[in-house]
Formats: sequence, C-alpha cells, structure tokens
Amino acid sequence: MMATSEHSAPACGQRLLTCPQAPTHEPETATITAIASPALLALRDATRELHAELDGHSPLTAPGLDTQAYALHAGRVLGWMRPLEAQLYGEGARWRDELQAQERACKASWITSDLREAGHDPAQFADCPFTPQPASLAEAFGVSYVCEGATLGGAFLYKRLREQLKPLSLHWLQGYGAQTGPLWQRWQAALAEQITKPADIEAASSAAQAAFDSFRRWVIQ
Ligand code: HEM
Repeated sequence: MMATSEHSAPACGQRLLTCPQAPTHEPETATITAIASPALLALRDATRELHAELDGHSPLTAPGLDTQAYALHAGRVLGWMRPLEAQLYGEGARWRDELQAQERACKASWITSDLREAGHDPAQFADCPFTPQPASLAEAFGVSYVCEGATLGGAFLYKRLREQLKPLSLHWLQGYGAQTGPLWQRWQAALAEQITKPADIEAASSAAQAAFDSFRRWVIQ
C-alpha cells in the first residue's frame, strides 16, 4: 500500500536536476504508436474515469479562463508537483535510472517559470502534504505515469489555450515540446521492460490512482 504523508520539498523554483530547458518551440500532441504493454493497459483502465473526472472539473477546460486564473491553477499544481517530483526524480530516489529521471525532473521548474511570468512569487504557494510516496519501483512507475501522461494533455491544452492566454508562455503546458512524443515512447518502453509481474502491475495501478486522487483533492477542490 502506498504511503501519503508529509514531505519536505526543495526550495521553490529550485531545479532538482539538470534537464532540458523549457522549449521555445511548439509542442506536438504525442502520437502513440507503440504496442501497449499489459502494465500500460492496466494503468489506463485503472485511471480512465479519474482522468475524465479531472478534465471535467479543471479550470483549464472551463470557459473564460484568463491569465490570472491560469496562474492560480499553476500555483496549486506546483504545490503538488514539487514534493512529488522530489520523491520520484530527486537525487535520493532509488529508481532514478529506471525512470530516466535526469530528463524528466523539469516540471516544477516549468511551473515556476509560468508563475514568475504572471507576476507571482512561487514561494507563496504551499506544498501538498499528502502526495503519494512510492515505496517500490512499481509504485514509482505508477506515480510517474500520471506525471508523464500529464504532458500529453498539456500539449493538447497548449494548442487550445495559447492564443487565449497570451502573452504567457505556458511552459507547463508546453512540457517537453517536440520531445513530448519521443519521451512518452521511451517511458512506455521502460514501463514494459520493468513492470511485468501481476503484483507489480497492480501496485503501479494503485499508485497511479492515488496520484490522480491527490491531484484532484489538492489542485481541483
Ligand atoms: C485538465 C485537462 C486535461 C485534458 C484536456 C487532458 C487531455 C489529455 C489528452 C488529450 C490525452 C491524450 C494525449 C494523446 O494521446 O496524445 C491525455 C493523456 C493523459 N493525461 Fe491528460 N488531460 C488533462 C489533464 C491531465 C492531468 C492534470 C493529468 C495528471 C495529473 C493527466 C494525466 C494524463 C495521463 C496519465 C495521460 C496518458 C493516458 C495514456 O495514454 O495512457 N491529464 N490527457
């Protein structure tokens, strides 16, 4: 069972690791061409309803979204992402190599850039005290599924919102930019290789559900 408890996060805006800069080019919505592994199919099944529920309640899909509403939403996402990213991809995380952490520990810094651009101090946003704390590689993959998958939705939303939210750059939604598809493919390949046993697939699925649940509770409600 996955623990969710207090976690001390790094200082606001601190980059956890070196990683590619937020792109200046346009992201492309990822095209998923690889054959889905049993683990990926299970993750999708376990979280389909949670994802749909989230989409329906997110301020990013609400009519009339403006730059300040985007920034306030981004601040909540930062409070969720900061501790979660440290657990998943931070220096001490024991699954850093399997999760390709060096390339992926960028997300809190993308959001921090968005907040600064919108005139907010990232330090004003609190960290979520109940983000999932993975206790195994399988659980780490489950949480990572939610973080990495969010870049696919981000690419979709970037296309929809970039004109509406000008002059903001929307780094969080741009995500990995043109690298979104390739990085998603590489993540799927790692999942397929590492998470194969039924017990691990189940643990990953529960962890992904816990991650969606904590996002919903902290960011949306
Ligand atoms: C709120 C508005 C959101 C919208 C409209 C949205 C939309 C989408 C879309 C269109 C995809 C598929 C992209 C593709 O196949 O190229 C996707 C995938 C995904 N999104 Fe979202 N998303 C949203 C928010 C989120 C958030 C906040 C999270 C996580 C906290 C998330 C997690 C995921 C995951 C895990 C996938 C991968 C699904 C899979 O292929 O297995 N999404 N989203």
